[in-house]
Amino acid sequence: MKPLIVANWKMNPLNFKQSFQLAEASDEKNVILCPPFVFLSEIKKNIRKAEIGAQDCFWEKEGSFTGEISPLMLQKMGCRYVIIGHSERRNYLKETDEVVNRKIRAVLRESMKPILCIGEKKEKTKQILRQQINGALKNIPKKNLSKLIVAYEPIWAIGTGRACGFKEAEKTRIFIEKLLKEKYSFKKPIILYGGSVNSRNYLDYITKACFDGLLIGGASLKPGEIKKILKF
Ligand code: PGA
Repeated sequence: MKPLIVANWKMNPLNFKQSFQLAEASDEKNVILCPPFVFLSEIKKNIRKAEIGAQDCFWEKEGSFTGEISPLMLQKMGCRYVIIGHSERRNYLKETDEVVNRKIRAVLRESMKPILCIGEKKEKTKQILRQQINGALKNIPKKNLSKLIVAYEPIWAIGTGRACGFKEAEKTRIFIEKLLKEKYSFKKPIILYGGSVNSRNYLDYITKACFDGLLIGGASLKPGEIKKILKF
């Protein structure tokens, strides 16, 4: 199966023109473009092969929640994926596993696919990942979980240029896969790697560490880089 590439643009770029250029460079099958909310609908109209995803959402359908975007709104505009629990949100917005759990439920309710981000700061990798997964999936019926995608993103590797070595990443992937299979009855979970992926290291995570795809931040903002990565 072709690897899934999630392009997480975070709070970039600053204008429509640049966002179109980026979208054009990344408009390939199996690519999910996750631009800021304000660009979503225009990008959706202008791409032919890629799909769009959101970087976050709220957990309610509608109502008095100033500043929030509902999963139903995203679904109605053609989003099929929503990133949930990115470490930057856990850090700057203080999102807890409980909040992540509510958001995952809300995304599943609208039949979209949540991309659950997990990752450790420094050490105790297994303990932290287990806690994040169990917190995020708490009391969600197993039969509802088939759409879930998990992105392993060690926090120390995000945006630092210090990507996780593929052997270490593979060990962690196997741990996550085992947990999802044994505790949550997944047959074949989809697990992505994220954290300083670039055109020189991306293949290792797919071919050597056997991830199902990549969650790419910085390199997805450079048309030259993303084009190279999408060549395979
Ligand atoms: P990075 O970001 O590729 O710039 O490290 C990845 C992410 O935060 O999703």
